[in-house]
Amino acid sequence: MLKVALLGCGTVGSQVARILLEDGDSLAARSGARLELAGIAVRSMDAKRDVDLPRELFTDEAEALVDSADLVVELMGGIEPARSLILRAIRKGASVVTGNKALLAQDGPALFEEADRNNAELSFEAAVAGAIPIIRPIRESLSGDRITRVLGIVNGTTNYILDQMDTTGAAFADALAEAQRLGYAEADPTADVEGHDAAAKAALLATLAFHTPVSLDDVRCEGITKVTAEDIAAAKDSGFVIKLLAIAELVRLGDGDGAEGTSVRVHPTLLPREHPLAAVRGAYNAVFVEAENAGQLMFYGAGAGGRPTASAVMGDLVSTARRLVAGAPGRTDTATRRLPMAGVEGIFTSYSIGLEVADQPGVLSRVAAVFAEHGVSIEAMRQTLGDGAAGAGNSRAELRFVTHRATEKALAETVADIKNLDAVESVTSVLRVEGV
Ligand code: NDP
Ligand code: HSE
Repeated sequence: MLKVALLGCGTVGSQVARILLEDGDSLAARSGARLELAGIAVRSMDAKRDVDLPRELFTDEAEALVDSADLVVELMGGIEPARSLILRAIRKGASVVTGNKALLAQDGPALFEEADRNNAELSFEAAVAGAIPIIRPIRESLSGDRITRVLGIVNGTTNYILDQMDTTGAAFADALAEAQRLGYAEADPTADVEGHDAAAKAALLATLAFHTPVSLDDVRCEGITKVTAEDIAAAKDSGFVIKLLAIAELVRLGDGDGAEGTSVRVHPTLLPREHPLAAVRGAYNAVFVEAENAGQLMFYGAGAGGRPTASAVMGDLVSTARRLVAGAPGRTDTATRRLPMAGVEGIFTSYSIGLEVADQPGVLSRVAAVFAEHGVSIEAMRQTLGDGAAGAGNSRAELRFVTHRATEKALAETVADIKNLDAVESVTSVLRVEGV
């Protein structure tokens, strides 16, 4: 028998408790040990729970519960006390399963080292893309290959919002409220819409894919709050869809011929509608992996929600139990080298740029000249007329450019110079394009 301490009984924790209590016999058959739910630590002893659970299991003394357990499942979220409780468990040799991407993206390397030192296992399948098996495939199934790129839709809330805006024309605020009601959003949805949740997951994916430590601070991050209905409509008109992508890739530093480095970023991205990730709708998640020998792989499924995320937690719990039953040591190896992070010169992609300009002779050529000065090649351009009579001097036009691949540095310089042109009223959007 293995004693399991559950820390947290919210959206995910309550479903883990339910599965442990309902499926005891089959879990025992699969793990080789009976997983006994020793207790559930919560903040409020009287709060109503999503699942009916025996009252005697609840405690507000998390430390004592951890001290009594062989396995600790941390589903409280946040940095403290989750961090101290995980360290406490590891230091007494208990293995830990967590879904806490925020904590792992901040303190993962220190926690993994501590787990290695204490022969304990720290598993976190639930931390990235909910139910989707992605950590184990990257860590184990692809450990004999060389992963070169990972593209992921790893935040259900933002995918739901962008999808609603794209398909029903919903306003941002209404789509966000619905995502919160459905339980996809974090307690503070800023982490979702500003891209921080996806950035934490991107850091974890990059660490595992490239065997190098990547923390949240290394991830360039831009959320979806600046994506407008006009951006979405313009993308749609041109055969694209806008998705918040987490992108981790191996790059060459310098001008593309230097040492190997890595670039990890999260930003709204235009994808051609025929790209496999464009078909990921609602709160679903998907991770697209490119490896030298395996080629392109895609992992798809529910990225959030109580039951799907509990499935990933239970998978970790059963495999850790099997290891404990077999008496094998913990295995948490993540980083075997230290790759430098690429700066803006190492990010090489295509861009979509929206401008509001005066509809006058010569404006287009002046804008095009700025692209040329910075070596940024234009792939396509569309002009839509705004108010006023065309060519009358007081009318406006909206220009949308799609560029060939260029460095982020060249693009930033181009945009800065375009902004300074007299005929340019504003730069309405700058979005990256992938998959072309
Ligand atoms: P919830 O906010 O729904 O639940 C958190 C639980 O932790 C609550 O039961 C709360 O107690 C308890 N808790 C919080 N702080 C303390 C404390 N100081 N002491 C004791 N108990 C505490 O979170 P979720 O279930 O949504 O998420 C849990 C973790 O899983 C997070 O790390 C999250 O990022 C991750 N995750 C969540 C997903 C989802 O879809 N929800 C998907 C993937 C990962 P009380 O109820 O008494 O307040
Ligand atoms: N808030 C997260 C999301 C939950 O929307 O994807 C899963 O990590």
